[in-house]
Amino acid sequence: MYRSHSCGELRASDINTEVTLSGWVQRIKDLGAINWVVIRDRYGLTQLVFDQERTEQNLLERSQKLGREFVIQIKGKVIERESKNPNMPTGDIEILVTELTILNEAQTPPFTIEDETDGGEDIRMKYRYLDIRRDPVKNSLMFRHQVAMQVRNYLSNAGFIEVETPYLIKSTPEGARDFVVPSRMNEGQFYALPQSPQTFKQLLMVGGMDKYFQIVKCFRDEDLRADRQPEFTQIDCEMAFVEQEDILGIFEGLTRYLLQEIKGVTIDEFPRMTYDEAMKTYGNDKPDIRFGMKFGELNAVAQHKEFKVFNDAELVVAIAVPGAASYTRKEIDKLIDWVRRPQVGALGMVYVKCNEDGTYKSSVDKFYDQDDLAKWAETTGAKAGDLICVLSGAAHKVRGQLSALRMEIAERLGLRNPQEFAPLWVVDFPLLEWDEDTERYHAMHHPFTSPKPEDIALLDTEPGKVRANAYDLVLNGNEIGGGSIRIHDKETQALMFDHLGFTPEEAKAQFGFLMDAFEYGAPPHGGIAFGFDRLVAILGGQETIRDFIAFPKNNSGRDVMIDAPADIDKEQLKELNIQLDL
Ligand code: AMO
Repeated sequence: MYRSHSCGELRASDINTEVTLSGWVQRIKDLGAINWVVIRDRYGLTQLVFDQERTEQNLLERSQKLGREFVIQIKGKVIERESKNPNMPTGDIEILVTELTILNEAQTPPFTIEDETDGGEDIRMKYRYLDIRRDPVKNSLMFRHQVAMQVRNYLSNAGFIEVETPYLIKSTPEGARDFVVPSRMNEGQFYALPQSPQTFKQLLMVGGMDKYFQIVKCFRDEDLRADRQPEFTQIDCEMAFVEQEDILGIFEGLTRYLLQEIKGVTIDEFPRMTYDEAMKTYGNDKPDIRFGMKFGELNAVAQHKEFKVFNDAELVVAIAVPGAASYTRKEIDKLIDWVRRPQVGALGMVYVKCNEDGTYKSSVDKFYDQDDLAKWAETTGAKAGDLICVLSGAAHKVRGQLSALRMEIAERLGLRNPQEFAPLWVVDFPLLEWDEDTERYHAMHHPFTSPKPEDIALLDTEPGKVRANAYDLVLNGNEIGGGSIRIHDKETQALMFDHLGFTPEEAKAQFGFLMDAFEYGAPPHGGIAFGFDRLVAILGGQETIRDFIAFPKNNSGRDVMIDAPADIDKEQLKELNIQLDL
């Protein structure tokens, strides 16, 4: 028996009990005549004591040879601690050791295994197994498990069945590049790893599974960001005989349940907003609604004077920053520099200080009088003490720029409280999106998403105006999930492929299996997928998903611990009939 108790378990009520513990050496405090060693396992820390008076000399000496991260087993008696540690759950006791076994020695770790470590990101990734011993990482993984359990609870209780779908498949078009896997038995041919189980879950609906879910790995070869990994996990779901409302209901329920169970937070309001409204009001299809600073469009009250910049702009749009009228010239200049950074790309920024005495002072006083500025204040909802920041230009671009500024200011003002949760449905997404590079329309969600019946007629005339039965779940300014009601008849699916520029032959070659399935009684169906890593990170009060993944990739898509991707053997390549110019 390696242990009778865990290292996080013993309390004052266990005093005088004989115990066996196993764990890693966390700390050693050797005063010569007395040696305190703290051992750690997943459950916590326990202090051991070896001293001249009560411990055999030989045992004390052996304890003095221990090093950090040695794996040891001890037997001993629980005794009351002289100086108790109220910050440690086991801080009332210590173990007077009678037997010590070294189960494994350890090299000195390359960084300290403490909550606040001296190890940088790179070294911690290389030795991720040591990083996982640290509380912040260990707790994040345990938190992830807890969320997964609750998700399974909720969905299972709601009648969903978890079904596994294959990883070696044919490409699913979700907009990113595929990772491909060569097939040895089918020379010159490749599988693709799924970007999502999209087509399979639809086929499960044709198969009559009715309610499917899966906590599943997805693979996308795309540029990485804090909230993106090349392999990530989705809570993937699909339901038959449903309308949009049914799906929003179930997944609103899941979100409420998780917030309640995991965070103890009750959500009163679960608002909905159309895509158009989100773009107009927040310049963004995933607005953070925990704070205000809604957009005010100023065209009607700013294009009547001689200010050419505004007169030439498609859109003049502004936000009122609370309490920022007191910013110095220097602080405002810094803000202007910020919006002019290439990543944001604004040409400049006009500002208006709303003074406490009700007057206005702007950077365009030459063109606009107090009445004009009062109208700007009214349109943006600015109060005395606020600073109005105005950007202008092409509508789509300028909305993006002002949205970036809004988020930056919110961050600086501390308005993005990670312990406050504001979910939001964004609905009525456009079906198609114009792609400048390929000069054609792409499906904004994916090609299986159904158009709103009332908009189908626009497909031929104004394809960009057709709305889809598609929705996103947004939480605190992050896209947590997305889904749609699907097309379930062959004709509409063929029409859709046609508008996406597929010839009937191409559509048949890529998606013939799905179109065929639609001929064998496909029920109306729809679904959604939540980004599980993102959901866990946000519930955990963070936006970087890497900390919640046991073995994540770095920004170049590498696993620096196992050193992948890597070359493969010539023999292996030959077997796969792959020739590389080396
Ligand atoms: P979508 O592409 O919107 O939909 O993906 C669903 C959710 O997955 C998360 N996500 C990611 N998380 C981490 N790293 C990534 N690289 C990454 N890419 C996406 C996001 C996103 O909202 N098949 C459809 C779902 C459906 O229609 O039912 C799909 O995959 O949180």
